Parts: sequence; C-alpha cells; structure tokens
Amino acid sequence: MGWFAAFTQTDPQNHGEQFFMVPTTNNKNQKMKTLKDLFLAEVTGMYDSERQIVKALPKLAQAATCANLKAALQAHLKETEGHVTKLEQVLQAFEQKPQTKTCQVTTDLLAHGDRIVADYKGSPAIDAGLISAAQKVEHLEIAAYGALHAWAIQLGNPKAASLIETILGEEKAANETLTKLALANCNKEAVGEGGHPAKETPALIAPLPNAGATPAAPGRKPAPARA
Ligand SMILES: [Fe+2]
Repeated sequence: MGWFAAFTQTDPQNHGEQFFMVPTTNNKNQKMKTLKDLFLAEVTGMYDSERQIVKALPKLAQAATCANLKAALQAHLKETEGHVTKLEQVLQAFEQKPQTKTCQVTTDLLAHGDRIVADYKGSPAIDAGLISAAQKVEHLEIAAYGALHAWAIQLGNPKAASLIETILGEEKAANETLTKLALANCNKEAVGEGGHPAKETPALIAPLPNAGATPAAPGRKPAPARA
C-alpha cells in the first residue's frame, strides 16, 4: 500500500490549500473478487460455525431441565453433525477442500449461551434462556444458508444448492421446534413461583401475508406473483 496527498482549496491559512494523505492500493496485484469467492468464504465460515455448534450443543442439552428441550437439542446435534458433512460435500462440488477460518459471530453467540448456563443453572428461567440462546444461533444459520442457497443457484451448482437447501430446512425446523417449546411450557415455567404468569399463552407468530412476494411501492399496484 502507498500514500498520495490529496488537496482541497478550503484553508486560507495555508495558501488556500489543505492537504491530507490518502492510502492507495496496488490494483495490479489485487484480485477482483467474485460471487464464487464470496460463496466459498462464507461456506468455509459456516463449516467452522457448525463444528463449533457440535461442541457446544451437548453442554446446552445437559443444562436443559425440560425433557422435550433436552431431546430437541440432542436431535439437532445429530443434524448438525450431518451439516458438517454436507458442507464438506458442498466444497467438493466446487473442487475445494475445507479450510480453517474462525466464525467469530458463532464464537460470540455460543459464549452467550455459556453465560446463560452459568447465570441461570438451577433457576426456573434456565430453559427459556437456553431456547433464546439456541435461537440466536439458528437465526444466524438461517440467514447465512438462505444467502448461500441463492448464491449456489446463481453460480449454476445444483448439487451444492440442494445440499444447502436441506441444511436450511433443518435449521428452520429446529427453530420452529424451539419456539413451540418456549410457548408451550418453558416460558411459563420461567416465570417462577413468585411471578405472575400471563392468563393466555402468546400465539405463534403468524407468517407475513404474501411472504416472499415482491412488496408493492406506495401508490403502486402489487407486483404479480411469478409462476
Ligand atoms: Fe446447522
């Protein structure tokens, strides 16, 4: 990297000029990055993410007091082990080998889960806290695999797209299971004996109308649905 001086004409104290140093990059040596580079970097990050989750899920399952939550976390551990294998197959579909790259977001989210376990062990709120921590990870994965699925299609690799679609479906199902467990029992139990539980259990959040359809701009007719 080099530097060059850029001038403005706004400083009367300095002969009407003001200068500052601007970093430059050597464009001749910098490779233009494409969607394929982005895709492979993100898959590599998710590969690390899944491996971190494989290590973390047994601790979360062990801390759960609700038998159904424990079973759901253990079932998702098996799926997550499968996600690691599927991501290796995605990389193979692009003739790539897995590489090491830490997914720091996952590290931070799992550290949050560890804090929930430490702070709420023995408390009636432990299961509600575990569900919330696990769902933060699921939402990260759903966002990541949603983008990767679209990118695999864009890159013309149906095998990779199919593998990612399977993973995405399992992440969404796991997230829905956690929501159901929270609303069925875990949130109610988290209130504790001294609390004032709500008379009605909150309903599941209804899907948005026309989810996936192109939203109409104000004053315009809605875009016709594609076949
Ligand atoms: Fe996963």
